[in-house]
Amino acid sequence: MAYESIIVEIEDEVALIRLNRPDALNALNKQLLDELAAALTEADQNDKVRCIVLTGSEKAFAAGADIKEMADKSFVDVFTEDLFTGPTEAILRVRKPIIAAVSGYALGGGCELAMTCDFIIAAENAKFGQPEINLGVIAGIGGTQRLTRFVGKAKAMDMNLTGRFMDAAEAERSGLVSRVVPTGKVVAEALAAAQKIAEKSQISVRAAKESVNRSYETTLREGLLFERRLFNALFATEDQKEGMSAFLEKREPQFRDK
Ligand code: HXC
Repeated sequence: MAYESIIVEIEDEVALIRLNRPDALNALNKQLLDELAAALTEADQNDKVRCIVLTGSEKAFAAGADIKEMADKSFVDVFTEDLFTGPTEAILRVRKPIIAAVSGYALGGGCELAMTCDFIIAAENAKFGQPEINLGVIAGIGGTQRLTRFVGKAKAMDMNLTGRFMDAAEAERSGLVSRVVPTGKVVAEALAAAQKIAEKSQISVRAAKESVNRSYETTLREGLLFERRLFNALFATEDQKEGMSAFLEKREPQFRDK
């Protein structure tokens, strides 16, 4: 499929998806969201892809939902269209890991999109925020929910009520991002992380992703049981035998996703 608002490149088993509406700081309009959902679904189904990196430009990961597109809508319009639900669900259905490489602004829906990915690597110039309060609305795809789970109530409340931005250092300190790297290096860092993930057994990669995500959905006791069952189940794979034999034989494992 040909895309206009995103660019997709596949190299070394990693799909790199770039949001590409530079004139609007990658504001998320319907076309971009539909293309993103399609590209992620395609990457998830493509056997040559083992990990996905989602990024924007150096100036903006995404400055939020497209305000021009939203401004004149009525309650019935937004309630009926539910513009973000389909794409968000499409991202959550992806079983391969998705790394967000965030440079510049990740605001509103942009911050929420990054948080919907599996983890965020930030450039030093990254700025995260939920400024919807300045527009007379509130966050709509996780800015009051995921952000609160990631950084705690105090900072989530501060960001959602004042609309202030969090810089990369604060985002790392608060647990919103996994690493901060110099601006200009963030895509390379995310691709290197993706490459590392691509080398693992994809069965244990999927199990790890499902298990960490489960911790956000359930009680600790249920989550621990879920984790233990998956841990046990992986002993039915050839890759577990290979991984442990390779360690004992002091060699690199050759995983076959079996
Ligand atoms: C539409 C946007 C936009 C957006 C920027 N642009 N953000 N267009 N929707 N969210 C456009 C500007 O209109 C401008 O176009 C161009 O991008 C460059 O932006 P500037 O403002 O000139 O750049 P700068 O001065 O550097 O300021 C950058 C900025 C600012 C701080 C990021 O653009 C800004 O505050 N943007 C809005 C951020 C925001 O409120 N996001 C939340 C949206 S609501 P022109 O044509 O004038 O050159 C949301 C809800 C999600 O995300 C919930 C969904 C369910």
